[in-house]
Amino acid sequence: MGTIEVVLGDITAERVDAIVTAANESLLGGGGVDGAIHRAAGPRLAEAGSKLAPCEPGKAVATPAFDLAPVKYVIHTVGPVWEGGEQGEDEILTSCYLSSLELAEELGVESIAFPAIATGIYGFPTARAARLAIRAVRSLPVIDRIRLVAFDEETCQLLAAELAGPA
Ligand code: APR
Repeated sequence: MGTIEVVLGDITAERVDAIVTAANESLLGGGGVDGAIHRAAGPRLAEAGSKLAPCEPGKAVATPAFDLAPVKYVIHTVGPVWEGGEQGEDEILTSCYLSSLELAEELGVESIAFPAIATGIYGFPTARAARLAIRAVRSLPVIDRIRLVAFDEETCQLLAAELAGPA
């Protein structure tokens, strides 16, 4: 059984085997955390991503992490755009976490960092996303070290509260 941690910080500073990015279907990069990860990994990340695109919402694909070394992989997953909660958004977000964990296990990853997928540009309510994220990573304990990296205090507190709650 591995560990699950909630931390506040910049995910590009994480020293883990795999960093998950909240991508869009083109895998060419964008704003938010995707932009930060592409800037840190360098232009080869978009080149590699474009060969695997399009990536459907809820699915995950892996590329090398290039200039983010010693990180080995970037796992690209596409979250749901929030449309009010009746369009399967919860299931798609849960699938982002589970697909990323399953792929990481296949790759022999021992530590992984997730951003708060879909809670920025895609507008997914942060408290609801935090509950789904903790529930998803608890349901699939296949990676030794799982780090949920919040970029702001509110997201950090919401994730920490969910992690402190009953399994
Ligand atoms: N480290 C960790 N978390 C970060 C960082 C960072 N350097 N930068 C932003 N975040 C956080 C945001 O504060 C938010 O909590 O990542 C979370 C997800 O927000 P977005 O990056 O906007 O991702 P998302 O809501 O899934 O929207 C995806 O935005 O960047 C584009 O190409 C991406 O089209 C896609 C869309």
